[in-house]
Order: sequence, then structure tokens, then C-alpha cells
Amino acid sequence: MITVAFRVVAGQRFSLYQHFLLLRQLTTTMRSPASTIVLTYPDQNPFNPNPSYPNIFPTRPAECDNLSAADIKNPYYDPLAGLHGHNPFQYTDENPMPPRIYIDNHQTSPPPLPEIFLSSLEFIERLNHGGRAHVYKVSATITSTTTGEPREKIYALKMFRDMDPDEESDQKEIGWPMFRFRREKEAYAHLIHAGLPEQGIVPNCYGWLTLSNRSYLEQCYALPVSEKDDLEEFWSREKNKQRITKYGPDTASRSHTLLDDRRPPKALLLEYYADLEPLSGNNVTHDIAEAALKALYQIHAAYVHHGDLSHDTNVFVRPGNRVMWIDFDESTCRCERNWRKKLSRQKLMEELEHVWSRFYQIMLADQPLVSK
Ligand SMILES: Nc1ncnc2c1ncn2[C@@H]1O[C@H](COP(=O)(O)OP(=O)(O)O)[C@@H](O)[C@H]1O
Ligand SMILES: [Mg+2]
Repeated sequence: MITVAFRVVAGQRFSLYQHFLLLRQLTTTMRSPASTIVLTYPDQNPFNPNPSYPNIFPTRPAECDNLSAADIKNPYYDPLAGLHGHNPFQYTDENPMPPRIYIDNHQTSPPPLPEIFLSSLEFIERLNHGGRAHVYKVSATITSTTTGEPREKIYALKMFRDMDPDEESDQKEIGWPMFRFRREKEAYAHLIHAGLPEQGIVPNCYGWLTLSNRSYLEQCYALPVSEKDDLEEFWSREKNKQRITKYGPDTASRSHTLLDDRRPPKALLLEYYADLEPLSGNNVTHDIAEAALKALYQIHAAYVHHGDLSHDTNVFVRPGNRVMWIDFDESTCRCERNWRKKLSRQKLMEELEHVWSRFYQIMLADQPLVSK
């Protein structure tokens, strides 16, 4: 491993002292704390300074403070710029993963997400492009008083069609919208119970509803759909128009639409955030990465495994370097009312490991390390 690392940095100008720092980081690799952290994750917070684990947030060793400002900005001169060290949540051959430890799911479930009823709903625009659930910016009035939100206001509405599995091409469990709906509904019950919306770590969710008012669905379907909005939906509508022109409005060759579903869709009503900026390589900083990892830990501490972090589209930065995680329709929780799937400590920590690597070894890989 050491030889490999020297090959990686070969060709760069290194002092003896810098080689020493490199060696120090490599030694840490062999003493990975992952196999210890996982034993109590997420009940014990690995970000707490006590006990402190090495390289939880990679920082530039204080010994490097004598580098000039220009050197620090220039990754060619700062040998540690691209080297964020060992991922502390990653097992190594010397410290392998212990046998699966399942989180006890016989605990009391958090209160379920409330069902809500609307007295008005107006679809304003589609917020996501494609996807199995449609997210809209809407203006709505909640009639139930328990939420304390009687007036009309702007929300984000995430709609899931209640289709029979044979009504759609993808019949796999995860692809079926009703499974996604139940997963996200259960996740919000856990996240709200843990107080995470108040901390801005996840959106606030007011509750779930059935969109049984046909005029709402007609209004939703009447929203124009461009190729950019939703390529699949756009072409399905185009083909339907052609078939109707050719064979008449009752043609059986027309494909199934929202208005043909036998049961009305379900939806989640969320706070609408106008200031969400997708987190990407262009705006990520070490401070934001730290905030995002701590926020993800809070989600895990609520016993929610996000399950859809393979790309960066579900994490956003808000003013003040605050980070918000969204989209829990592939999540798994400790207490699941509708199905049984055991959640392990390993599964939760592996998600943290994945995100740590994504931030420090990919998105921030060419940004110089900072001193803290
Ligand atoms: N509460 C919200 N406020 C504002 N925009 C939102 C909100 N929730 C979702 N969005 C927008 O909708 C997009 C899709 O939402 P998401 O829950 O990730 O659905 P999908 O399952 O289709 O990925 C997000 O990337 C974001 O742009
Ligand atoms: Mg998403």
C-alpha cells in the first residue's frame, strides 16, 4: 500500500517532512476505527470529540501552517491537497466488518404521519424532471386543524400514483410507487419524531393525503409537459395525441395516464423551500461537507437509512452553509408498520462511509485541506 501511495505522488516535489506526513496518514489506514465505530453506531455519535477517532473530518496538520498562502491555493505545491487520508468509516483487512448487528425493531414506533385533507389545491409547476414520483409546487389550504396551518400557502407536493403492479412496466418492489410512498411516509414519521425538520436537516412534512378530488387531477394533468420537464411523459402524451387523431378518443392503443388510474394517487405535503441549491463540486467546501455528514448522522440517529445517495441530487445547501437532505422514498426505518425489513448498524454506517468518500475523495479531492 505504501509503495502504491508513493507511486501516486511520484513526480511531485516532496520534502522529507512531507513524506513523513504521508506515512503518518498511511499508518492510520491500518488502524481503521470503522470496526469499532459500527458496534455502537448510531447510538454513539462518532462525531463527538470524546472518544475522538482519527480523520473523521480531514484537516491539514498544524505542522503545515508554515506553507505560504500561495502554496496552499496551489494543489501542485501542497502535497496534502489531494490526499484526504483514510475514510474512518471504511473497514480494512486488519479491521474487518464484524458480523451483522441488527437494530432491535421491537421498540415503540413513532406516531404515524398524520393524514391531512385539503380544501383548496392549485398546481403551479413541476419541480422534478422524470422520476417515479412527481413533485409539484402547489398552493393549498389544509382543512384539518391539527397541523395549525389553516391558511392557503405554497407547498411542495410529492405525488405517488396508486397503480396496480400490472399497470406499469417496472414491477419490482422498489419501483412500485406505493412502496415508495409508504417508505417516505414512515421515514417522515421517524424524522419528525426526532425533531429534524425544526433543525432544517430535512424538509418539514405536514402529512399525507389521498388526491381523490378528480378536478385536482385534471388540473395537474393539464399542466404543460415539455421534453425538458419529463422526457418519458412528454413522448407518451405525444404518441397518445397521434393515436387519438388516427383512431379516435376511445382507442385501446392509447397508453395509460394519471386520469385512467383506478385509484386516486397519494401524496406527501412538504414545506416548500425556494432557496435550495443542489450541493455539487462547484459549491462544496470543507465546512459544508462537515455539516452534511453531521446532518446525515442525525438522520441515522433517528434510525432512518436514506437508501438513495448514489448521486448528489438529494442533498442541498441553503444560505448560511446549512445542508438539507431530501427524498426518503427508498429509505428503511427501524420500525416499519407495513413490512418487515431488518435494519443493521452496518447498513447505516456504510451509508456514512459512502458519503464521506464522495465528499473527501471525489468532490473535495482537489481542494487543499484546511487547518481547524
Ligand atoms: N420541499 C421542497 N421544496 C422545494 N423543492 C423541492 C422540495 N422537495 C423536492 N423538491 C424539488 O424536487 C426535486 C425532486 O424531489 P425528490 O424528493 O428528490 O423526488 P425524486 O424521488 O423524484 O428524486 C428535488 O430535486 C428538488 O428540486
Ligand atoms: Mg431525488
